Amino acid sequence: MHMTLRQLTLFRAVAQHLSFTRAAAELSLTQPAVSIQIKQLETHIGTPMFEQVGKRIFLTDAGHELYAACGDIFARIEALELSLNELQGSVKGKLKLSVVTTAAYFIPYLLKPFLERYPEVKVRLNVTNRKTLLKRLSDNEDDLVIMGQVPEQLNVTAQKFLESPLVVLAPAEHPLVAQSNISLMQLAEENILVRETGSGTRAAMERCFAAHELELKNNIELGSTEAIKQGIIAGMGISVLSQHTVTLELAAGTMKMLDVEGFPLKRHWYITHLVDKQLSLVSRTFLEFVVSQADEMTQLICKRLRESGQTLNC
Ligand code: PGA
Repeated sequence: MHMTLRQLTLFRAVAQHLSFTRAAAELSLTQPAVSIQIKQLETHIGTPMFEQVGKRIFLTDAGHELYAACGDIFARIEALELSLNELQGSVKGKLKLSVVTTAAYFIPYLLKPFLERYPEVKVRLNVTNRKTLLKRLSDNEDDLVIMGQVPEQLNVTAQKFLESPLVVLAPAEHPLVAQSNISLMQLAEENILVRETGSGTRAAMERCFAAHELELKNNIELGSTEAIKQGIIAGMGISVLSQHTVTLELAAGTMKMLDVEGFPLKRHWYITHLVDKQLSLVSRTFLEFVVSQADEMTQLICKRLRESGQTLNC
């Protein structure tokens, strides 16, 4: 058989997407270029890898066999790349990171200096909510994961590296802005904008109210941090978010932080991986870098908060 790695790469992409068009787009190729290579591969092997039913394509039995083999082949090549890099002692190659949505607001401040120091590292950052991130972690899809609370159900190693206070935010003109020491009971009567189920921020907020036996009566679910921020600014209601996500808005005065009993909720960021995970040199270097940058990150965040007129938590 004379199949090439290139053909296997294309085959794997088509099999993952079950679409020639999407595979071509992912690999920045034209669809005919992909089709020709797959045809050649099928000719080498002597049997079709895909079958078309109506507009959809499916893997044939032989296609399933080849797809399973591709998993082994590419995992082996990746492991080979890692060990060759390790032997050369060079910090280069892929770094697969996943972070909870809230962490996306500060991760660029860590990635920028890291990539300046190690320009041959290729980062693939995945941003998702806590629930999806836990699934990715248990499926071993990433090298390292950044989240706001260490999962109890998984066997992970976690290093705390930064504070992540959750604060209560309201539209600038909201009557509660002028009040101090607002009770949680009073807050529970307000229109509260919440993230989607599966969000760690939402879970932390709900835990806080439940601990005081309070129910949020007027929940409005807006499925992302950005939607909530815009909702606050538009006057839809108040919300609880990580302070790291609203530095610019606080600086611009488009929303205000409320003085609520028990807030800010103290949380931390953790960088984690499965205990059994074999960390590559790149991953180990990034992990050490993140932990070593914690003080500088804190100072940077405090500087941005001071510039926005907020000194809380600094
Ligand atoms: P979230 O997570 O983006 O899912 O709300 C934040 C966190 O877990 O701290």
